[in-house]
Amino acid sequence: MGFKIAVLKETAGGERRVAAVPETVKKLSALGATVAVEQGAGAGATVSDEAYREAGAEVGDRAAVLKDADLVFAVQGPDAADLAGAKDGVMLAAALDPFGNRDRIDGYASADIDALAMEFMPRITRAQSMDILSSQSNLNGYKAVLDAAHHYGRAFPMMMTAAGTVSAARVFVMGVGVAGLQAIATAKRLGAQVSATDVRSATKEQIKSLGAKPIFVESVEGIEGEGSGGYATEMSEEYKKAQAELVSDHIAKQDIVITTALIPGRAAPRLINDAQIASMRAGSVIVDLAAEQGGNVEGAVAGEAVERHGVTILGAKDMASTMAADTSALFARNLYNFVNAFWADDTDAPVFPDDDELVKGVRVTKDGKVVSERLLAD
Ligand code: NAI
Repeated sequence: MGFKIAVLKETAGGERRVAAVPETVKKLSALGATVAVEQGAGAGATVSDEAYREAGAEVGDRAAVLKDADLVFAVQGPDAADLAGAKDGVMLAAALDPFGNRDRIDGYASADIDALAMEFMPRITRAQSMDILSSQSNLNGYKAVLDAAHHYGRAFPMMMTAAGTVSAARVFVMGVGVAGLQAIATAKRLGAQVSATDVRSATKEQIKSLGAKPIFVESVEGIEGEGSGGYATEMSEEYKKAQAELVSDHIAKQDIVITTALIPGRAAPRLINDAQIASMRAGSVIVDLAAEQGGNVEGAVAGEAVERHGVTILGAKDMASTMAADTSALFARNLYNFVNAFWADDTDAPVFPDDDELVKGVRVTKDGKVVSERLLAD
């Protein structure tokens, strides 16, 4: 038997995705890997055990798929105890939430699991096709707009009818990363009047190119807002104050606000307070895509629709699982692309060199130790 990849059935509540789909099973098999899928793993993403078998996978219970596995694929990181029965030094590739779940990472080290945190993939061109944050955020940004439209008691596009005119909804997107860009594009397609803001000034052109209006703090000198890897940095007090004033005036005129702002390794920045919510007209909707990371919006609760001052605040939760067939397919391709990039034909197994930039980025534990520079620096 060659290199064996085990695909686990997810156990976290609300998780419907799966880390391999028949298409990637076929591709992994074509490389020379044996793929074993835990029974029922694809149910939430509408992939049957039969479909995995047809694609060439073995399907069995967890003990059977873990036995002799060299690499385990999952969407959300399982606890080390969930991999009991796997061999020493087994590799795990999944979204491990290393900052939010440090104990689990320490658990991998103690259990001699070599863990790869796929969300630590460097944001460089070579790694774009392996970037789980992008592939999932993209669809989340789209869905945030649909959820807002669903809860909004009015229409998005302007409509001129015999009975009179319906005015276009005003949509404001805060945080223009991958999710924010897709939210802008989706809201535009639905006919809304769209504006957007970010702390990274590089996004100004991107907002314009999507036909939306950029809303930016211009008065604070020397602000770039961009740290390493294209991510946002924590902003100065002066900047935050100027941003709050600008945004307050703007928010009061909006019907829909979508917030997506994240800072890696920290709680999500607070962008909207209670007074700003109160300034919006009744019936407005706010979607907080950062609700699971602490929330951009005061009072947002992940997984709930909260009503404040007549405004509905939707706290996103398990958004990717509401589109599990598509998000799984993208996630699965991200994992496949990663393995494929390091596949060595002479040994029929992937080789992940310590000095490779991508491997250095994602590897969080090796040989019983936590090795991630980002985690050790935290
Ligand atoms: P993210 O999910 O970490 O954050 C979302 C957005 O919120 C970011 O644009 C961030 O600047 C913004 N933000 C943070 N604090 C804010 C505040 N106080 N007010 C307003 N906005 C705030 O970002 P994401 O989507 O992961 O993208 C991060 C960067 O990575 C971007 O520059 C993106 O273009 C880049 N990227 C590069 C890739 C590659 O080359 N492989 C792939 C994907 C993204």
